[in-house]
Amino acid sequence: MTSPSTAAIELERRSTDAPIARANTAPHALAGAIPDIMRAATYDTFGAPDVLRIGDVVVPQPGPGQVLVRVRAAAANPWDWHFLRGLPYIARLNGAGIRHPKHQILGGDVAGEVVAVGEGATRFAVGDHVFGFIEFGAFAEYAVAPESLLAAAPANVTFEQAAGVPLAATTALQGLRDAGAIRAGDRVLVIGASGGVGTFAVQLAKRFGAHVTAVVSGRNASLVRALGADRVIDYTREDVTAGDDRFDLVLQLAGTASASALARVLAPGGRLVMSADAPNRWVGPMGRMIRGLLLGRIHGQSIAVLTAKWNAVDLTFLAGLLDAGDIVPVIDSTFPLADLADAIRYVESGRARGKVLISVARSYTTAEPDRS
Ligand SMILES: NC(=O)c1ccc[n+]([C@@H]2O[C@H](COP(=O)([O-])OP(=O)(O)OC[C@H]3O[C@@H](n4cnc5c(N)ncnc54)[C@H](OP(=O)(O)O)[C@@H]3O)[C@@H](O)[C@H]2O)c1
Repeated sequence: MTSPSTAAIELERRSTDAPIARANTAPHALAGAIPDIMRAATYDTFGAPDVLRIGDVVVPQPGPGQVLVRVRAAAANPWDWHFLRGLPYIARLNGAGIRHPKHQILGGDVAGEVVAVGEGATRFAVGDHVFGFIEFGAFAEYAVAPESLLAAAPANVTFEQAAGVPLAATTALQGLRDAGAIRAGDRVLVIGASGGVGTFAVQLAKRFGAHVTAVVSGRNASLVRALGADRVIDYTREDVTAGDDRFDLVLQLAGTASASALARVLAPGGRLVMSADAPNRWVGPMGRMIRGLLLGRIHGQSIAVLTAKWNAVDLTFLAGLLDAGDIVPVIDSTFPLADLADAIRYVESGRARGKVLISVARSYTTAEPDRS
């Protein structure tokens, strides 16, 4: 497949970060530099991004099986605003917290360096450069992470690029490979191909040997072509669900097309993988999931909802693809930690092209000495 150059997909950069170099520091060389207090973006009530506050909090300690990561970069994902708002409400029963947020520091995707190792954690040493999806805590200068959710960061990307990969690329990979059972030669339709997940989905589908049709707005046509899309449909001009084209796999990441409308464009034996996003504030995707499953049963079609099970095996696989230049993170923009609320607002707008990143280690370089 054609690999777009990094330069071609850096849409807007707001910081200058250096590529990650492999760590060669002696074990525990940095351990003495860990402060007691760190800067973090916190919230203690569910709401709009305005509820986020930047302040000082105690640096967490790694527990058994965990490491402490000095965060260099994080990514803002739809995941974060769902937990920020506590929506859909059903998510509050599922770990977000009932009346108040259970986790005061958001931030799932992280890239940084290991500065301390908890009891029994053996995969990484102090000084290692890692990345991964850790669910919570990355919007801070330090974060604890289960080592089972991390992988060694590839040396040819920046910390910011690495932070854009874990959740979005794992979701794209599992959506195509596991839920979508992608095969070489498949005709794959990616709806929402210009977003955080979609930009990885196009590249991964090409890597799996598929013929990729990308559904985007006109402004993003050249972006997805550069990522390898064979054909582009501008959703503002053409409704793919009303056309005669048929696909072996449809990955729906954006738009409001119903499961039955999407199922109509499936070829015999085709698979539909639908985004879990839904406007329902109470049950979110549950209604959509149930309708999709019922529809699949009735028509003998494979209809699944897009979910991701983050794990180090897939992350290591993705790290290898990054290392080889077979996939490249598309970066829409990079915000300093102090502007996290703006970053999350932007992600929530649904207009991002690729990933929205948070630069943490350099967030305070204008006010404080660089601790690099
Ligand atoms: N990000 C993750 O890691 C993650 C993980 C698990 C699940 N998910 C789910 O996967 C879905 C996609 O997430 P994402 O992060 O990729 O979203 P995203 O980055 O917010 O997607 C934004 C992109 O979608 C495009 N878009 C908006 N409406 C569209 C439409 N009707 N048809 C085609 N493209 C459209 C936008 O371009 P235009 O504005 O130019 O149209 C923009 O480039 C969401 O449902 C999310 O909840 C995401």
